[in-house]
Amino acid sequence: MRILVCGGAGYIGSNMTALLAQAGHEPVVFDNFSRGHRTAVKGTKVVTGDLANRELLVRTLGELGIETVMHFAAYIEVGESVREPLKYYQNNLSNTQNLLSALQETGVAKFVFSSTAAVYGMPQRVPISEDAPKEPINPYGETKLAVERMCHYQAETGRLRFAALRYFNACGAGDDGARGEDHRPESHLIPLIIQAAMGKRADIKIYGTDYPTPDGTCIRDYIHIDDLCRAHLLALKKLDEQAELVYNLGNGHGYSVRQVIDTVKRVSGKDFKVVEVDRRPGDSPVLTSDATKARTELGWRTEKGELEEMVTTAWKWHTEHPNGYSD
Ligand SMILES: NC(=O)c1ccc[n+]([C@@H]2O[C@H](COP(=O)([O-])OP(=O)(O)OC[C@H]3O[C@@H](n4cnc5c(N)ncnc54)[C@H](O)[C@@H]3O)[C@@H](O)[C@H]2O)c1
Repeated sequence: MRILVCGGAGYIGSNMTALLAQAGHEPVVFDNFSRGHRTAVKGTKVVTGDLANRELLVRTLGELGIETVMHFAAYIEVGESVREPLKYYQNNLSNTQNLLSALQETGVAKFVFSSTAAVYGMPQRVPISEDAPKEPINPYGETKLAVERMCHYQAETGRLRFAALRYFNACGAGDDGARGEDHRPESHLIPLIIQAAMGKRADIKIYGTDYPTPDGTCIRDYIHIDDLCRAHLLALKKLDEQAELVYNLGNGHGYSVRQVIDTVKRVSGKDFKVVEVDRRPGDSPVLTSDATKARTELGWRTEKGELEEMVTTAWKWHTEHPNGYSD
């Protein structure tokens, strides 16, 4: 299948692009390279463009005979979304509306969307299942939920078949350390700790050590990038049977900030400074997924659920690419 991968030069999109090619599909990356990297998609057909450019989208979908779109392109930083909400509504919501309208015009019906656990906000119960209340607490989560709803109404008209995949914390480097995480600026825990282990930052901060968790630090659900991407292939297939799919994609169990720090220390063999500071507003003590639905309906199984393996692949990539991707 010829698949347009919007945001395909980013962390998750580039891993997905590689997996699609391995699975016999023909991925085409569509990216404006605002946050992505050309070297991450070397050897793949790339259309350089912005989702705001509807005409280019229509032309690309039509001329390249695209049958399915996977949509990873977005701004992803929660803190920035609070400071710059309009930037997030523009890129994550308005530009996705643009993309869906281009799909409608060209008759492309299949759509896989990168949603997020942030749609749940501060959940009353963990692990979180798909039917838990959706009450985002920041513009990032709001824009993702708004896209899910837009897709739902569009699907009801019969013009769209979509899967909204709510990721928990994607991590690790794909293909045994071949494709890693290089967000600039970086806001994700594992690469930040790795930067401390590599001496690229002075310390790593723990925000809050008095949470009601076994070691007092927050617990999050980490999902290896290879497991995450495999779920997309399964969801894509399932769209042949069902027009609207929503799945949590997580491990189902969590690791605390302290456990992640200790694992990076063990895997890297490096010691570094850990600074304990106050809690941050808006952090839930525990966020873990109930991914039963993806397991039962898609037959999805995580194969790299151990923190050690996630950190080992990430460490490999970072030490082999000390300056990240070269562009
Ligand atoms: N990384 C995570 O742990 C995580 C968790 C939950 C959800 N998600 C979602 O997964 C998706 C991918 O995340 P990621 O970590 O790979 O992010 P990323 O920043 O590495 O990748 C996003 C890509 O989209 C491109 N892009 C952004 N705006 C664009 C536009 N207007 N036109 C064209 N290209 C554009 C960027 O250049 C970049 O290559 C995002 O939608 C994010 O919200 C990620």
